[in-house]
Amino acid sequence: MELMFDTANLDNIRYFNGIFPYVGITSNPSILKKEGKRDLVHHFKEIQSIIGGERSLHIQLTAGTSEKMIEEAYKITEKLGKEVYIKIPINEEGLKAIKQLKQDHFKITATAIYTMAQGDYAIMAGADYLAPYYNRMENTNINAENVISHFADRIEVGGYQTKILAASFKNIGQVMKAFNCGAHCATVDPMLLGDSLKLPFIETAVSDFKKDWEAVYGQGNTFL
Ligand code: E4P
Repeated sequence: MELMFDTANLDNIRYFNGIFPYVGITSNPSILKKEGKRDLVHHFKEIQSIIGGERSLHIQLTAGTSEKMIEEAYKITEKLGKEVYIKIPINEEGLKAIKQLKQDHFKITATAIYTMAQGDYAIMAGADYLAPYYNRMENTNINAENVISHFADRIEVGGYQTKILAASFKNIGQVMKAFNCGAHCATVDPMLLGDSLKLPFIETAVSDFKKDWEAVYGQGNTFL
């Protein structure tokens, strides 16, 4: 069970970096749009400096043809390092690009996955991560739990190395369900993770314990 942050917002990454155990950052063009136009090499280098070398960075390609995708992947890794995971949507062009990029030893995160078939193709193509879109599947009346369980079974039975990186979450319940279905990892907006801890009964429990402690040992005192 692992978490990634689905954001490119530097303030949020800095803030939540010290709070949640997370193993990487994912982004896509819509996430980048929220940050406004900027020097993306500089921006991603900044992200790399915050998250450190142990965590992974997943950057989505924008090109529409496999040839251009391959070029784009080379440019990204030239500037940001071979360790960057290249996110590629699973359509015909994307699969074609993955075939070549895997031969060239790139790390691949297959994305925009809504169906069992798409994910199976990505697993067979050797994708390192597979990103099924939980909330978007639900919006499309596709059973996200069935799709993720299907991938988990396929990976286990076939002995594949691909990890399920569930994505597209709108609430923490969806994240928990994705883990229950066998997702190895979930990429989530860290603000949503933060909100999952801001529950009144958690605050009440913490303040009740504080009151009881202070009633006996005095305000501001700790165990030692
Ligand atoms: C991450 O890899 C995905 O691109 C992202 O989670 C999609 O989220 P959305 O459905 O909120 O756009």
